[in-house]
Amino acid sequence: MSDGQVVATQVRTVTLSIAELEADPHSVFRRYRAITPFIAREGGGYIVLRAPAVEQLIKDPRVRQPETEFPEIRGITEGVLFEFFKYSMLTSNDPVHRLRRAPFTRSFAARLIADLRPRIRKIAEELVAGWYEEGEIDLVDRFAAQIPAQAISELLGLPKEDIPRFTALVYSVSRVLSFTFAPDDLPDMQSAARELRDYVACLIDSRHATPMDDFISAYVADADSKGELSPIEIIVQIVVLIIGGTDTTRVAMATQVALLLQHREQWDAVCRDPALIPGAVSEALRYEPSVGAVSRFTLQDIELDGQILPSEQFVSLSTMSAMRDDRAYERPDVFDIRRAERRRAHLVFGGGPHRCLGEALALIELEEGLAALTTRIPRLRLAGEPPRLRGHVGIRRIGGMRVRWPS
Ligand code: HEM
Repeated sequence: MSDGQVVATQVRTVTLSIAELEADPHSVFRRYRAITPFIAREGGGYIVLRAPAVEQLIKDPRVRQPETEFPEIRGITEGVLFEFFKYSMLTSNDPVHRLRRAPFTRSFAARLIADLRPRIRKIAEELVAGWYEEGEIDLVDRFAAQIPAQAISELLGLPKEDIPRFTALVYSVSRVLSFTFAPDDLPDMQSAARELRDYVACLIDSRHATPMDDFISAYVADADSKGELSPIEIIVQIVVLIIGGTDTTRVAMATQVALLLQHREQWDAVCRDPALIPGAVSEALRYEPSVGAVSRFTLQDIELDGQILPSEQFVSLSTMSAMRDDRAYERPDVFDIRRAERRRAHLVFGGGPHRCLGEALALIELEEGLAALTTRIPRLRLAGEPPRLRGHVGIRRIGGMRVRWPS
């Protein structure tokens, strides 16, 4: 070996059980990030911990998106839930991924930003007005869950009376992404998935018959004009959009309020100065992200800081760990809504070709939701223990969160 040449060695990789990882993921990640670029998970797979490697691998051709392997591991090999994975943009690779995503990039982002912000603010204000007199509520159910469900309903132009049923279906199906279901739950989830698929199929048919001035009509017209997607692919992309946009934002909304209420001076500052809202949203997503990692599959051996991440393995690129890495952030374990190093492309939304399609919508929901609460209820308080966010990969989980205020 010549001077300065780095040779990768296979150091014995630390393997952790799910229980160890779930108990206190931030501490576990902090401890191991200092000594190793990745750890192994009992039962298979690796977790990449350091910011530079996570940022690199998220868009690296040496890894690919897992396809139907994820449901297969969980025992889902047929039925509508399986179709959701088989035909989705999230679980496909190029060239198929590009075809499935393209109609959205053409019909989605710009329109949302222009139209939805005032409507989402109105939704948030109406929710607050609906329960303000009660003086105490569960913020997760009565606010954080309602905003994404109603925002998606607005986006798709759903009739108001459909929203409760539609929301229940979405929450039942979205559990497939969050590791929280048992084999016994599968029949109910499959049946909810079937109902959701049929609901979306009807919606698409109705827009075919009578196009309206809404996102879904634009999407259907675009997909039809290109003729590159099958009818089931068109339906599944809408379903994935709906599922991707509910739990993620529900958990993020509750978490940002909980964090601010635990750092009272920062909550009060946001109440006084709404210009701090984007920084508060961004910092909450960094400090306690609602999505813990993105999944990839290695196509070859990859050297990371002198160690080899082996080929043909599932890897979780831990955005959660990376966003607490002092290689990328100063004082990473401090919650500070005024921190200087806010990045233009927030890592919580991933990166590369699969970067979150709903990022703009999520930020609008989180910002307008926070604006409504800080304007209407500046004296909001936690009414019990702060909620604990659980989970270290996928969509993280939150329990209830009671809040109160003097009415
Ligand atoms: C705080 C809220 C959100 C977070 C943290 C989040 C996070 C993510 C991440 C990390 C990915 C990339 C996954 C990967 O690379 O494997 C992703 C993809 C995606 N997200 Fe989000 N998301 C959020 C909200 C939303 C919303 C509101 C929508 C839609 C309305 C949405 C729709 C999607 C879709 C369709 C994809 C798949 C994109 C593709 O595969 O090309 N997300 N999201």
